[in-house]
Amino acid sequence: MDAVETRLTTIMTSHVGQTGGLITALRSAQAAFGYLPPETDAVAAEAFNLSRAEIKGVISFYADFHRAPKGRTVVRLCAAEACQAAGGRTLQAAVEKHYALKSGETSASNDLTVEPVYCLGLCSCAPAAMVGDKLVGRADVDRIAQAVDREKETDA
Ligand code: FES
Repeated sequence: MDAVETRLTTIMTSHVGQTGGLITALRSAQAAFGYLPPETDAVAAEAFNLSRAEIKGVISFYADFHRAPKGRTVVRLCAAEACQAAGGRTLQAAVEKHYALKSGETSASNDLTVEPVYCLGLCSCAPAAMVGDKLVGRADVDRIAQAVDREKETDA
């Protein structure tokens, strides 16, 4: 058992028997590693006496779980109906061009991820985005770029 499996086993077994233990364990693992490493499925299946397919199903059901590390700053562009009607696709294309990243990708330097999200609860200010944990209403490329710069300054 390597170091990742050992750490995952410790995390998983500490939540066995709890109500909602699997979700809590997966959230803890993601907090520990920044994402869910490939070994997660097997370790969680063993700990919770479930199949790997069941674990995979749970992980893929929840959009908050991710299988690869994300960038230090994450730009989420709303792809739901109200934002699409207010120019969301045009905004997505402009942001992708500005950062030379397709939605769902992380930059090679690992400083930025651009990804879709399905409603941020800011429909009245569509198109909406989220940069880190900050909402951006009536988003355009300039406002998103300013929010990204602020986020990077905060991290520095
Ligand atoms: S549809 Fe985009 S914030 Fe609700």
